[in-house]
Amino acid sequence: MNRGSVETSLAELAARIRRRADGHSGRFVLGIAGPPGAGKSTLARGVRDELNLAEGAAIAEVAPMDGFHLTNAQLVALGEMSRKGEPDTFDAGAYVDLLRTLRGAPLGSPVPWPTYSREIHEPVPGGVVFDRQTIAITEGNYLLLDDDISPGWSAVRPLLDETWYLDVPRPIIEQRLLRRHIRGGRTPEAAKIKVAQSDLVNARLVEGTRLRADLVLRKSGRAYRIV
Ligand SMILES: Nc1ncnc2c1ncn2[C@@H]1O[C@H](COP(=O)(O)OP(=O)(O)OP(=O)(O)O)[C@@H](O)[C@H]1O
Ligand SMILES: [Mg+2]
Repeated sequence: MNRGSVETSLAELAARIRRRADGHSGRFVLGIAGPPGAGKSTLARGVRDELNLAEGAAIAEVAPMDGFHLTNAQLVALGEMSRKGEPDTFDAGAYVDLLRTLRGAPLGSPVPWPTYSREIHEPVPGGVVFDRQTIAITEGNYLLLDDDISPGWSAVRPLLDETWYLDVPRPIIEQRLLRRHIRGGRTPEAAKIKVAQSDLVNARLVEGTRLRADLVLRKSGRAYRIV
């Protein structure tokens, strides 16, 4: 363990959310922010699965920010396809509206939430449906972004009951994203350009939001460190 940090397991992180959500009126919303490729979706699914396993029932579900990507047709029409992934290529207003609805909806009343398909590279309307889950885990790059950077995002933070920032060293993110782009069909050269000109630019914006989180986490072997 490094000085000044505490090691914690996924089960302990889930138990922390369970304690905080107990006695909370309405649905509890955990936000997980972090740069592209940090492992946010992996962490969100891990916490969800731990919560559901410990309870023996589906009490948690993931509400990805990625479901609010503008469609490829919208981006082409705007002439912004090459900027896909930047803060203003998402519908931040619709994300905020649906987060508010999700928090306020009575348990048992269905709330369809869009997901994002990495196969077709498009949002999937109603990809997941919230129903009786008392805990929603929303995750994405721009949860803690300021309106100065891109309008609309600062309305997210007040709708989150707790926020984590998943911190990963740049070289690791770079490697992961390169591999992912190559797996997705890009040549190594095209993947390098995409990482340098797009992903890392977005990563820098996100890194500026780190101090707004309640907890900063780093992966440490099979566990996480709270830093
Ligand atoms: N702790 C980890 N150790 C090693 N690899 C990991 C870890 N967490 C995630 N990965 C891998 O890193 C890649 C990115 O993970 P993931 O999709 O969870 O990140 P993300 O932050 O959601 O990315 P994006 O911002 O692009 O949605 C995936 O290939 C995943 O398998
Ligand atoms: Mg993700």
